[in-house]
Amino acid sequence: MRPSKPLRSREWFGPSDEAGLFHRAWLRAEGFHEQVFQNKPIIGICNSASELNNCNLHLKFVAEAVKRGVWQAGGFPLEFPTISLGEPFMKPTTMLYRNLMAMDVEEMITASPIDGVVLLGGCDKTVPAQLMGAASANIPTIMVTGGPMLRGMWGQQELGSGTDVRRHWDKKRAGKLTDEEWAEIEGSISRSAGHCTVMGTASTMTSLAEVLGMTLPGTANIPAPDSRRYATAEASGRRIVEMVYEDLKPSQIMTRKAFENAIRVLMALGGSTNAIIHLIAIAGRLGIRLPLSLFDEFSRTTPFITNVRPSGKYLMEDFFYAGGVQAVMKEISPLLHLDTLTCTGKTLGENIRDAQCYNPDVIRTMKEPLYKEGGTAILYGNLAPRGAVIKQTAASPRLLQHRGRALVFESNKEMYERIDDPDLDVDENTVLVLRNVGPKGAPGMPEWGRLPVPAKLLRRGIDDMVRISDARMSGTSYGTIVLHVTPESAVGGPLAIVQTGDLIELDVPNRKLNLLVPDEEIQRRLAAWKPPLSSYKRGYVKMYLEHILQADEGCDFDYLQAENLE
Ligand code: FES
Repeated sequence: MRPSKPLRSREWFGPSDEAGLFHRAWLRAEGFHEQVFQNKPIIGICNSASELNNCNLHLKFVAEAVKRGVWQAGGFPLEFPTISLGEPFMKPTTMLYRNLMAMDVEEMITASPIDGVVLLGGCDKTVPAQLMGAASANIPTIMVTGGPMLRGMWGQQELGSGTDVRRHWDKKRAGKLTDEEWAEIEGSISRSAGHCTVMGTASTMTSLAEVLGMTLPGTANIPAPDSRRYATAEASGRRIVEMVYEDLKPSQIMTRKAFENAIRVLMALGGSTNAIIHLIAIAGRLGIRLPLSLFDEFSRTTPFITNVRPSGKYLMEDFFYAGGVQAVMKEISPLLHLDTLTCTGKTLGENIRDAQCYNPDVIRTMKEPLYKEGGTAILYGNLAPRGAVIKQTAASPRLLQHRGRALVFESNKEMYERIDDPDLDVDENTVLVLRNVGPKGAPGMPEWGRLPVPAKLLRRGIDDMVRISDARMSGTSYGTIVLHVTPESAVGGPLAIVQTGDLIELDVPNRKLNLLVPDEEIQRRLAAWKPPLSSYKRGYVKMYLEHILQADEGCDFDYLQAENLE
C-alpha cells in the first residue's frame, strides 16, 4: 500500500540537509535503525496512562499491543504522554482541566513528526479531551479505550463503581451499615485497572467514541483486563497505518450524522448527563452545532433499552457479555444513520451487520424498552432559560412532576456544613438548590449536583428528593436531580436569585422548570444581583475563567471552537 499523498513526517525526516540529519540523528539516539525512516508512516501513540489515574494505568501495556500492530503493518510507532485526568483525585474537578488536556493533545499532535495517532484514554474526561484535541488537529486518528474494571464483589453482592458507594454511604449515614462493613466495601469495589463499572461518564463516552466511528467495532466495552482488549489494540495499530495511507481523518468520520447517531445511542444507553456537554464540545471543534433541543427531540423518540446501573440493574461486564454497544446500535438501527463512515473505512451499517444481543434482559428491544423515552430530558423555564438537564431514567417517577419550597445553599461547603443539621428546616417535599457551582462559579462545574438527602430524612426512609443546581453530577449517580442550569448563577442566571421558601415547579413530562415567583419580583431581584468576585488572578484558571463557555455550548473555550458553527 502506498500513501495517497506525501507523508507529513517526511518534512522532518525526509530532507538530506542539516535539519533532516538533526531530526534523524536525535531519534536514532533512542536506538532505532536508519530503516525506520524509509517512508514508513510514523504513528504517535497518545497515552494518558498515569499513576495518578488508576482507571488508565494499564494503558501503558495497551500501548505495547498497539505498537505490535503498527510494526506489523509497516509503520513506526512512537509513544508520547499527555496530562491525564484522574477523576477521583483532582480537585476541585477534572472538568476544570478537560480543555487543558484537549489543548495538550492537539498541540502535541500538530507539533510532532507524526502521520497518524492512536488515542489511549478511558477515565471520564480523558476520552472527550482526546477527541476534542484530535478533532482540531485533524490527522488520521483511531481511539483505543481502556475498558471497564472487573465488577466489584462484596461477598455475593455485586458493587458498581460510584453508584453503590453512594447507596451504601446513604445507608451508613442512616445508621444501617457498620464501620467494618464500610471498610470491606472499600476493599471490594475496585478490583482492577479500568474505568468505572456502571454506565457512568467513562462507559458512556467510550461507547459513544465507538458510535462516532473512532474505535474499531467492539472495542469500547471489553473489560480492561480481558485479553481481547490487547488484541483489539493490536488490530487498531495495524488499522491506523492503513488510515494514514487512506488519509482518513476525524473530520470525515465525526460528521453531523455521526453525532446524531451518538445522541440516539446516548438516549438508548441511559448514558451520563455529562456526555451532552462533551458531545457538544467535540462537535464544536468540527464546526458542528448541537443545540440542546436536538438532545430533547431524540430523547422523546428513542427508547431507553440498556439495563445497566445507575438507571438499570446490571454492570458493564454484563453489558459486554450481552453484546455491548454494537448490539444496542443493531437494535435501534432504524433510528440511526447507517451510512456514516467509520475508522474501519466501512460504514456503521456494515460494522454492525452481524452484531447480536446475547442477553435480552440486559439489552432490551425497541418494542419492550425499559422506558419509552431516552435517558435524558432537557428542561426549560424561567429558572433555566437556556436549558437544564435531568436523567429521568435514574429519577423517582413520583418526583417527575413536583412542586416544593426551595432550600438554598450558596456553596458546596455551606451545604455540607448544614445538610445533616437536625434543625434543618426540610421535609420530603423541599427542593434543595445549590448555586455558584457552574462552569465559572465553582469554577469547573464539579460533580456536586447530587446533593445528599439530609440524614434526618434518610432515617425516615426518604432516599430521594428534587435537587437543582448549575453543577454536573457523576454519571454513576442517580436521583431526581436537575443539573447544568444555564445560564449559571455566577453569570447572573435566574438560579442566582432564588430565595429559600420560593416555590419551584419541576415538570419533566412537559419539560418545565419554573420559579413560581411573579415576573416583576424576579426582575427586581436580578437588577439588584451582583456577580461574585473572582479570587483567581493567575495561571491556567485565570485563562479558563476568561474563555469558558456555558454548559449548553459544551464548556469549551471560546477560541478553541471552530469558527462559524452550523
Ligand atoms: Fe475513572 Fe470513574 S473514576 S472512570
